[in-house]
Amino acid sequence: MTDSSLVAVARRSTVLRRSFRKDFPSAVRGEGVYVWDANGNRYLDFSGSAAVNFIGHGVPEISAAMAEQAAQLEFVHTSQFTTPVAEEYGRELLEFAGDAFRGGAVYFTCGGSEAVETALKLARQYQVEVGQGGRYQVLSRKQSYHGSTLGALSVSGNKKRREIYLPMVRECEHVGIPYCYRCDYDCTDGCRNCGQQYAAELERAIEQTNGETAGFIFEPVSGATLGAVPPPPGYLESLADVCRRNGVLVIADEVMTGMGRCGRNFAVEHWNVAPDILIAAKGLSSGYAPLGAVIATKKVVDAIADGSGAFLHGFTYNAHPISVAAGRAVLRHLKAHKLVEAADSTRPGTAASLLRESLEGLRELACVGDVRGIGLLLGVEFVADRKTKATFPAGRNFAGRVGGAAAKRGLLVYPMQGTVDGVSGDHLLIAPPAVITAEQIEWAVGQLREAIEETATS
Ligand SMILES: Cc1ncc(COP(=O)(O)O)c(C=O)c1O
Repeated sequence: MTDSSLVAVARRSTVLRRSFRKDFPSAVRGEGVYVWDANGNRYLDFSGSAAVNFIGHGVPEISAAMAEQAAQLEFVHTSQFTTPVAEEYGRELLEFAGDAFRGGAVYFTCGGSEAVETALKLARQYQVEVGQGGRYQVLSRKQSYHGSTLGALSVSGNKKRREIYLPMVRECEHVGIPYCYRCDYDCTDGCRNCGQQYAAELERAIEQTNGETAGFIFEPVSGATLGAVPPPPGYLESLADVCRRNGVLVIADEVMTGMGRCGRNFAVEHWNVAPDILIAAKGLSSGYAPLGAVIATKKVVDAIADGSGAFLHGFTYNAHPISVAAGRAVLRHLKAHKLVEAADSTRPGTAASLLRESLEGLRELACVGDVRGIGLLLGVEFVADRKTKATFPAGRNFAGRVGGAAAKRGLLVYPMQGTVDGVSGDHLLIAPPAVITAEQIEWAVGQLREAIEETATS
């Protein structure tokens, strides 16, 4: 279809779509790793939509839990009631988050951006409660993504998603981020040393705010923007240490990496980092309902409980009973089916290690520069020249075209541009449900290889 006919089709829709220049099939059914459209075409969901689905589509016990909750009590407002389902789920989630969160509490939202907004305000209020009213800035990293609401955009480094809204956004400092494939420091030690230099950059940025920094937010494994880049050894530990020494709250945004996707309950466990505030969404409900969570340590919750006594924040739909019922059922399901273990790429024979092995084979293609990631969150970066790591011209939309060629073959991936500096660079995010089998991986990587070859030669 030409651009103008795509626009004409999109204009006939009553739904304001993400793009007027893309054809969106109508999805009608999901089961396991597959989604079907209204024309009967089947797609293998190799990116869990956008790293959302972790337990597979169409799990009947999740819809049953939601229906049961809806039949019993669809909604109450959190200014008037709590609910048994939210209380129980809160307890189970704190336990899942580990010892560092014992005695803490969970604030449930409708998704990642709302959870990030909540975390930013919680960090600010914590500082006010402990007598640090001058602290309000939340520092973050370049080439990061924390959501689409204005507060979340202000701490995001994703250039394209921010650019036109910048006049509306209050900015704090964004510090550099290690990106080992294109290391600024030309490291030869796996970026162990340069990780420390990036941590020192954070310390300098905090000092420059003259005691105004309330928190620091980061994705443990850089997700959509850089394309599944794990941190170098020692780096996250040093970041957390810098924050602690400077009275700054550590806020781990695990919207994409959490709830098992990286082979641990939360990705920070790989590096023994204990955040003050942990943010989850996406895999939290695996997409069965809009849900996010801000998991706060006892220290943070006590400061408010023993201080002013009220968190000055709220959404009509926070802790929505049906969403919370979905999240609780998803958590029980992923524990019962050992899906965190399936996502562990450090264990031989798991879905995650089979996927990694299989994707590594794509390095044979001249345009594949890097294959990286951890657990079931992997990235494939494309280059025009492997030696110089030169990128394709942004106008070629290489990743987007690979995504289109893959979709034609019944394979869904998550293409992104701007990998290198917000404008140039192309990558795919691969983040399938943890129930994917060896045969499905083999088929999917075969289709992906063909889609890349087709794009490279066209
Ligand atoms: C790390 C991270 N934080 C926050 C968000 C925003 O979440 P949502 O799209 O659910 O608002 C995203 C979304 O991709 C994300 O990847």
